[in-house]
Amino acid sequence: MEIWRAPLDFRRACDEARQRGARVGLVPTMGALHRGHQTLIEEARKHADFIVVSIFVNPTQFGPNEDFARYPRDLEGDAKKCAEAGAHGIFAPAPADMYPPGDETRVHVGATAAGLCGAHRPGHFEGVATVVTKLFALVGPAIALFGRKDYQQLKVIERFTRDLFLPVEVVGVRTVREPDGLAMSSRNAYLSAEARAQALAIPQGLSAAARAFAAGERRAGMLTALARGHVAPVASSIDYVDVADADTLTVLGPEEHTPDRVLLALAVRIGGARLIDNMVLGEDPIPLDTTAAKEGDEERHA
Ligand code: PAJ
Repeated sequence: MEIWRAPLDFRRACDEARQRGARVGLVPTMGALHRGHQTLIEEARKHADFIVVSIFVNPTQFGPNEDFARYPRDLEGDAKKCAEAGAHGIFAPAPADMYPPGDETRVHVGATAAGLCGAHRPGHFEGVATVVTKLFALVGPAIALFGRKDYQQLKVIERFTRDLFLPVEVVGVRTVREPDGLAMSSRNAYLSAEARAQALAIPQGLSAAARAFAAGERRAGMLTALARGHVAPVASSIDYVDVADADTLTVLGPEEHTPDRVLLALAVRIGGARLIDNMVLGEDPIPLDTTAAKEGDEERHA
């Protein structure tokens, strides 16, 4: 597993791969890798021949009171997980490599980034858009993969890629969950055993709303209230529980009726960790689909 630190060494390796005729696939991450990240790498292998993973805790996407300093870092463990999933190399620059003295250019994003997390993390998506654009410029990937776990991030990246005519195919990958339904996240490492148990309220809340939606509920306020009812008792604070257009991310008011495909997204603080999750109602599987689990059990016992 090759590890590049200097941006221009990394660019050279990607150039050489393309000159050999390889399709280059990029999986951007901040490290502390888990099965969700590995799924992105495995998916990349289906579409490209030379897979590079970037591991960079990007300072420009963290607010002044956020967890940049304590964000988990484990390059050695990450390298093993990348190799296991079939990546060919890792780009692990230092902040001063990505933002050298004099660096001042930022990618400004618009309405897609305004609501949901954007409303609570000023500058966050500008930081994401800037670092992802820098990575695209270094790698020249044919394809780049992002998780639907960070649904708004995926939509913002799709938007600026289209707006700037960037020659890369952006692919979204399903959210990978723990067996009990909690979405995998590097930030789950912050949770005590007690907070980890409380965090189950998140997939429970999404699932309650999804079941009501499947039964015909279309009132935005009812859907968010169902999810909120699960998370409110365990969350120390709730940034938002919102229903939004699944493409533009325009948030619906509580009195509005949803279309048959709509995003339900939330961000809550539990046990000192800010956790986000979402599902596209009418499209994604229900996180705690008891019927599916039962069928699975029956299969195992058969
Ligand atoms: P990070 O949080 O490390 O996530 C890297 C990629 O893994 C993102 O595309 C994210 O959506 C995806 N991912 C995380 N958890 C997942 C899960 N449970 N299932 C599926 N995919 C999952 O997102 C970032 O880093 C950064 O903002 C980045 C895009 C690298 C820019 O700095």
